[in-house]
Amino acid sequence: MMRNLSKKSSKAQMLKKLPASKPDARLADAEQYLLPTYKRQPVVMTHGKGAYVFDSTGKKYLDFLGGIAVNALGHAHPRIVKVIRREAARAIHLSNLYHNAFQGPLARKLVDWSGMDRVFFANSGTEAIDGAMKLARLLGRHPDAPAGAPSKKHRFLALENSFHGRTFGAISVTATEKYRLPFAPVVPGVEFVRFNDLADLEAKFDDSVCAILIETVQGEGGIYPVSEAFWNRARALATQHGALLIADEIQCGLGRTGRYFAYQKFFTKPDIVLIAKPLAAGLPLGAVLTTEAVASRVSPGMHGTTFGGGPLACAVALEFLSIIEEEKLLENVRASGAELREGLKKLATKFDFIREIRAEGLMIGIELSVEGGPFVSEAMQRGLLINCTHDFTLRLLPPFIITKAQVREFLKLFEIVLAKTPKQAAAPDSAKFAVPQAAAHAAARG
Ligand SMILES: Cc1ncc(COP(=O)(O)O)c(C=O)c1O
Repeated sequence: MMRNLSKKSSKAQMLKKLPASKPDARLADAEQYLLPTYKRQPVVMTHGKGAYVFDSTGKKYLDFLGGIAVNALGHAHPRIVKVIRREAARAIHLSNLYHNAFQGPLARKLVDWSGMDRVFFANSGTEAIDGAMKLARLLGRHPDAPAGAPSKKHRFLALENSFHGRTFGAISVTATEKYRLPFAPVVPGVEFVRFNDLADLEAKFDDSVCAILIETVQGEGGIYPVSEAFWNRARALATQHGALLIADEIQCGLGRTGRYFAYQKFFTKPDIVLIAKPLAAGLPLGAVLTTEAVASRVSPGMHGTTFGGGPLACAVALEFLSIIEEEKLLENVRASGAELREGLKKLATKFDFIREIRAEGLMIGIELSVEGGPFVSEAMQRGLLINCTHDFTLRLLPPFIITKAQVREFLKLFEIVLAKTPKQAAAPDSAKFAVPQAAAHAAARG
């Protein structure tokens, strides 16, 4: 249905600052017309600056969620704004039938950072996952096998407690049943391995596996890093059985852990690395990074995308990577992450419902013995954005530009939130994700 609003009045409505007491018609529109896929907080966020976000009443929030790991540079970074303005006036989209000025240089930079050889650009994390699964199935077939002939090497291994996205391929390798089962049957041939359990990994790996997918640090699952022993065994078994090791670094990659990629703490590399979230500083862009051996099986027409790798998104991504290097943000991630972890550990001694703190750089999970949701609401009331995952784990994903003063501001606010939130006891069967002790210890050291 056509709206009766002129362009001018609709823009004015979008930017309107409303007093807190007045009902907001935009919320009513959202309630009535959006598919109810999210339980959104009842606020309209209008803009951000650095590590802060503002809502339509003018209220300011310290953003320790960063658009779920997307806004690594915070909001309105001047260099990003400049590139968007410049390139939007030149070419937003050109299609993948031609080269653009930024795809090649961006691919080169990502290859430098990752140690991979070649790149495919997609629009999102889940699209990158599906692309990688297609590559694994392709590599699993003999090059001379007739197209469509069944291939023995077609199984995927994924980990318990994993999250890889929402498309069919991605939900098939996502362990959480509520994301997968309503859409069954999903892609066949997937088996889940117990997290960091070497015996289970060995029992499930054989020549019929074409790939194993691992989030180097599980994000949605509650910040669980894969152990070095598990990674090494997965690498060795993948090599032994001619399968691909696929690292999902969509949430933990591109600097979040204080390294370019989370897997760079290990001595061995995966065959495919998947990235998205912060890559284009908030514009949609994902990528599949892979080796020459994988790339050599790909030919034109096998895979593609309309929007992936457009000139605007790639120009912004190049700028994002340069900012990380030039502003020495990895150092800041490590230093701020350590400070945050120390502060949280002190809070854990004051509040006995904090069960465990798991952290790698600026990727932090605070596991509670009570429901986490009420803490998120209390934090919002007090001008702080955080998130709760898997009901009991509060997740922090602050921007890489976070300052020491902002870490202190967070810790002060968070202590009040911990003290004031009404505590709702966890249900007795609130099955905490059971992680072998070695993993828990590695996470605590992180
Ligand atoms: C580890 C991981 N993989 C994949 C995805 C899916 O990415 P996207 O939402 O961009 O499709 C996410 C998103 O949260 C993620 O955290």
